[in-house]
Amino acid sequence: MKFFADTADVDAIRELNDLGLCDGVTTNPSLVKKSGRDIIEVTKEICSFIDGPVSAEVLATEADAMIAEGRKLAAIATNIAVKVPLTLAGLKACKVLTGEGKMVNVTLCFSANQALLAAKAGATFISPFVGRLDDINLDGMDLIAEIRQIYDNYQYETEILAASVRSVNHVKAAALIGADVITAPPSVITSMASHPLTDKGLATFLKDAEAAGLKIV
Ligand code: E4P
Repeated sequence: MKFFADTADVDAIRELNDLGLCDGVTTNPSLVKKSGRDIIEVTKEICSFIDGPVSAEVLATEADAMIAEGRKLAAIATNIAVKVPLTLAGLKACKVLTGEGKMVNVTLCFSANQALLAAKAGATFISPFVGRLDDINLDGMDLIAEIRQIYDNYQYETEILAASVRSVNHVKAAALIGADVITAPPSVITSMASHPLTDKGLATFLKDAEAAGLKIV
């Protein structure tokens, strides 16, 4: 499973990357706003040290304008995945941009039928938003499971990128279902390493090592 950092915070991306836990990055206009940076400038900086796909989202809503913006974003670096919304215009832009060999991440997916359309449009990634479905008392993981089954039924190569991941439980559930990628805030990914029994066990080992005067020389 690939882990993408869901942020435009360059320092947080660097830290996750240094841990070897950053296979790519996803941004959106809200995350760029939070960073306080210019969209082109921050995307360029992220691409300067991340080798995997870096999703940068178009701002236009008409297909032709999305295609033009997508081409500009894709010119930033070869690892840009142009992010387009799951609208008919977005699907049209997806088809054109993937036809030009660019990676496209179709975002704001909330149903299996939407995911099916994205696969037919040749999307590189489909981004179902699990957390936002949970927010309205639906089960985001049901959607991941449905998309997994549909894509497997027809051998679609579009990768399922579980997005709007808010907890370590989301990561585990997505991994069990077989999502190809999760994108989450770096803090969610690093907290996967935490376990109270690990902390307790380590404290005991260190105490015993000190008591026994152990040294590795
Ligand atoms: C990523 O591609 C999405 O834009 C992001 O995961 C949305 O997350 P949120 O629902 O927590 O804003």
